[in-house]
Amino acid sequence: MPAMPAKREILVTSALPYANGSIHLGHMVETIQTDIWVRFQKLRGHTCTYVCADDAHGTAIMLKAQENGISAEEQIANIKAEHLADFTDFDIAFDNYHSTHTEENKALSALIYNRVKANGHIAKRTITQAFDPEKELFLADRYVKGTCPKCGAQDQYGDNCESCSATYSPMDLKDARSVLSGAAPVAKESDHYFFTLPEFEGYLKEWTRAGHLQDEVANKLAEWLDSGLQEWDISRDAPYFGFEIPDAPGKYFYVWLDAPIGYMASHKNLCERTGQDFDHYWKADSTTELYHFIGKDIVNFHALFWPALLTDANFRTPTKVCVHGFLTVNGKKMSKSRGTFINARTYLNHLNPEYLRYYYAAKLTASVDDLDLNLDDFVQRVNSDLVGKVVNIASRTAKFVQKAGGTLSTTIIDQALWDKTVAAGEVITAHYENREYSKAMREIMAVADAANEFIAEQAPWSLAKIEGNEQQVLDVCTLGINCFYAIMTYLKPVLPKTAQAAEAFLNTTLTLENELAFLGAHSINKFKPLMVRIDTKAIDAMVAQTQEEAEKLAKAAPANSAKTESASDLEPIAPEITFDDFAKIDLRIALIENAEHVDGAKKLLRLTLNIGNETKQVFAGIKSAYQPEDLIGKHTVMVANLAPRKMKFGMSEGMVLAAGPGGKELYILEPHAGATPGMRVM
Ligand code: MSP
Ligand code: ZN
Repeated sequence: MPAMPAKREILVTSALPYANGSIHLGHMVETIQTDIWVRFQKLRGHTCTYVCADDAHGTAIMLKAQENGISAEEQIANIKAEHLADFTDFDIAFDNYHSTHTEENKALSALIYNRVKANGHIAKRTITQAFDPEKELFLADRYVKGTCPKCGAQDQYGDNCESCSATYSPMDLKDARSVLSGAAPVAKESDHYFFTLPEFEGYLKEWTRAGHLQDEVANKLAEWLDSGLQEWDISRDAPYFGFEIPDAPGKYFYVWLDAPIGYMASHKNLCERTGQDFDHYWKADSTTELYHFIGKDIVNFHALFWPALLTDANFRTPTKVCVHGFLTVNGKKMSKSRGTFINARTYLNHLNPEYLRYYYAAKLTASVDDLDLNLDDFVQRVNSDLVGKVVNIASRTAKFVQKAGGTLSTTIIDQALWDKTVAAGEVITAHYENREYSKAMREIMAVADAANEFIAEQAPWSLAKIEGNEQQVLDVCTLGINCFYAIMTYLKPVLPKTAQAAEAFLNTTLTLENELAFLGAHSINKFKPLMVRIDTKAIDAMVAQTQEEAEKLAKAAPANSAKTESASDLEPIAPEITFDDFAKIDLRIALIENAEHVDGAKKLLRLTLNIGNETKQVFAGIKSAYQPEDLIGKHTVMVANLAPRKMKFGMSEGMVLAAGPGGKELYILEPHAGATPGMRVM
């Protein structure tokens, strides 16, 4: 182990998750990576503070709240509680988890804006944008769809064509329509505020090469910097869920302006609660360190806009921006239908969080490469490394120490093995520091392999059979337990819960603050199994639940499902009818009193429908999309005067109304609350 370096004061952040969706295993790559690093620094005795928050502003969150029929404030409060519960259950040890929609953030955002403005770095210009005349909102590019003006591909987003890669502005699309309302957007002018980023080009060219970034990240940014920076539009028009710009009524800060300031706000909130010194960390000449952990998709915000804003507003800039790649599952992008878009909570319903913490650690490097969660490899790796190698050391030796009275011997029976085990600490801590966790895990497993070999060679279980060997058995097992002690110390940042259980067993605290000292003449406690093997049934259940969740979501909000019908897939409208034709059809609200499978029928469910004064039996071809029990008690709409039809299974006395192409994508119509059985539908 290296000489202990001087105490460092480090402030660490993970990117702030958006408050419109659940935490999934992709997010967990980042928080687990960060949490391991923070726990490692704390274990070394440094002062390390880990803050995060929900990113609560923006159009998407405003619309999500509308969709859920609640206020934006309720939306962000609900999601924050959910996010924090997920992170807590994964043992992510934030020192503070805040929100960007807070007084601290409002004040800091205004402060930074005012300073930047006083420096002459805010420009005001009139721009023309797509505007949804029905929703009365300006539309970001991804809220406009239409036909590519260049190649004619249909259903393209407002910024570029996925088919021919042409770039354009949303108003250039042919048959442009608002994704929100379907209305044709109109071009509308409004004033916007810009941060004059090009003035920081020289500063950023230097900053991005000054050791704050991975080389590959700096190289990527150099391409942007060389092709010239654009002024950054930091304002949005009302209605917008965010902070109103101090001197510009009706204009709001763009979510990405106040999001990184949310790091400061969360820290400020912590400092105010605990009496720590905020300015000590954030003043321009601070001697403390600031580390941001982020994904590769948000590099420009953290490595261009953010340092420029901070320096302009006379605050310190990040020591390091640590960028990681994206999670794939079984080699592919996460997918709902394949059951691989796994929510954090779904994982937790079936599996121990430390399995994933270890697996990610075993795969994480300091590069921006994507990282694959291969579910077969996951099971194999965790079972063989953690259960087969690490826990095994203790379970094979503890009972002999127990038999000898529970106190370890003072003899180091194999000095070379112990020296190697201690020396590995130096390499392992260096790997942790450099975020080379996969290398650290490999070193740790090499130490475990050596310990297991030693135990297998010495075979204390054989030695113990012969009288007179008691001391040798105790010496062998003492070294085994000490190796376990070292390994669990090295693994403590990754496996906090197991490390805690190991501390109870070893009757000591695991720390990397001082050089590891051999535990001799030290009494230990009774060994309890620290971790069990992953059962592949749990994996299957998790994947199945993920698939179910995706199906439910697709049913609940078909407009948001990945596979929505594009305009061109829809059936053409049928020939015109008169009102009298329509009035012949008697549509009624029906209560589904019963629904059941029909013996021998592949597609049909038998429904018993209450329409007020009578009940009707209807055979409906909706078995592919519904379980009978999901239908019972629901209201729907039926054609009540359709001539009864004799079917193989009995009389069908009407039809229920459903939409969709068929198969799983079939959605029965449901009236709003208040409609009761028998009401006529017109
Ligand atoms: N709200 C912004 C961040 C603001 S920070 C001032 C945001 N939120 S996010 O919820 O979309 O993502 C949060 C973090 O999770 C980002 O660093 C992002 O890169 C990371 N990930 C999201 N999906 C991911 C994967 N599939 N894999 C790995 N990381 C991923 O961006
Ligand atoms: Zn095109």
